[in-house]
Amino acid sequence: MMKSYTLISNIKMLAGILDKNILLKKGAEMGVLNSIENAYLIIENDCIFGFGKMEDLNEGIQNIKISHEINANNGMVLPAFVDSHTHLVFANWREEEFEMRIKGKSYEEIAVAGGGILNSAKKLQSMSEDELFIKALERLNQVIKQGTGAIEIKSGYGLTVHDELKMLRVIAQLKSVSPIPIKATFLGAHAFPAEFKNNRKGYIDLIINEMLPNIAKENLADYFDVFCDQGFYTVEETDLLLKAAAKYNLKPKIHANELGYTGGVQVGVKHHALSVDHLEYTGNEEIDCLLNSNTMPVGLPNCSFFLGIPYMPARAMIDAGLPVCLASDYNPGSSPNGRMGFVVSLACTQMKLTPEEAINATTINGAYAIELSKTHGSITIGKNANLIITKPISSLAFLPYNFGNDSVESVLINGKVY
Ligand code: NIG
Ligand code: FE
Repeated sequence: MMKSYTLISNIKMLAGILDKNILLKKGAEMGVLNSIENAYLIIENDCIFGFGKMEDLNEGIQNIKISHEINANNGMVLPAFVDSHTHLVFANWREEEFEMRIKGKSYEEIAVAGGGILNSAKKLQSMSEDELFIKALERLNQVIKQGTGAIEIKSGYGLTVHDELKMLRVIAQLKSVSPIPIKATFLGAHAFPAEFKNNRKGYIDLIINEMLPNIAKENLADYFDVFCDQGFYTVEETDLLLKAAAKYNLKPKIHANELGYTGGVQVGVKHHALSVDHLEYTGNEEIDCLLNSNTMPVGLPNCSFFLGIPYMPARAMIDAGLPVCLASDYNPGSSPNGRMGFVVSLACTQMKLTPEEAINATTINGAYAIELSKTHGSITIGKNANLIITKPISSLAFLPYNFGNDSVESVLINGKVY
């Protein structure tokens, strides 16, 4: 194949440079974001080929012919975000519940009354695969433009064999057209459908005996998720489900400890979960359990912001030596927004992470949480050139500081402006 080279010149700061052997950052290392000021970066086809200081550019371009130049005009260059937790395939928004919550109803009360996830399931069940795909593709395009360069998407609004498979097929279709990598997670155990309210075992059996074998046969999922929490799946039910998923080599990435100290983190770690997500209720026991594991804790600050629930204690977790990853949780119930820049702002303003920690949490650690850190999540020679070029800004801190405003000038996907 003909090699083509793109030069990004006049980069005020190239940030997020990492050795290729480092697959995640934890504890004090999270505060370090290696960077070069006044830098250039060269892309070969779709991968990072080299970088250095502008004054050494002549050396850098020796022996290669640059076919395309992008002037960063004193913007910063960062690795694109890796959003390791989304539910971006859904039929419709749920602003009616938003109004109920304004008037005092809690997320759990709305769920018990048949709203929440069951409301989304009803909407999704009556929508065709094609229509779902078109809607999801629009959202995917939007978040890519906002700087997301790799993403995970869950099922979990189907809740029948037919509709869970339908959702996963939509994700498969997205994978086939997406310029960014997508990982698919099967979340049949997101809620109990109304008809199984008094027969929980019946629905769990359906997941184990009908959904899992069919999903495995069609190779529709990379991971397995359970909403292990108060009012949803118990630790015992989660344990049973994770055992069943392991037979199909589906690694767990579970929803845990959003609504209470439920033991969700512990059951996830016991099953070597790749990640445990939410963790608004995390104390010393959960921290100790995570310290003895390879499981990535994933915080979802949009959800805390939007539902008015506590934030994952990310500061204390990093101070204890843990890695922390942050993701958008893009979904119609608890986070109707997939913009990762806002996640970074909340990380700083609400979770008291430094801008450097927040960027590591949303890039390299996000990549770890979906097993992409060998190819994504940092500025590393040979990694995929999915990059963000910012507007000319004075420092890294300006990104989260100027919250809600978009400092992203352009996004490069596979080395090309998206
Ligand atoms: O991650 N907490 C569980 N699941 C989603 C929300 C689902 C919904 O309300 O539609 C979440 O917040
Ligand atoms: Fe979620």
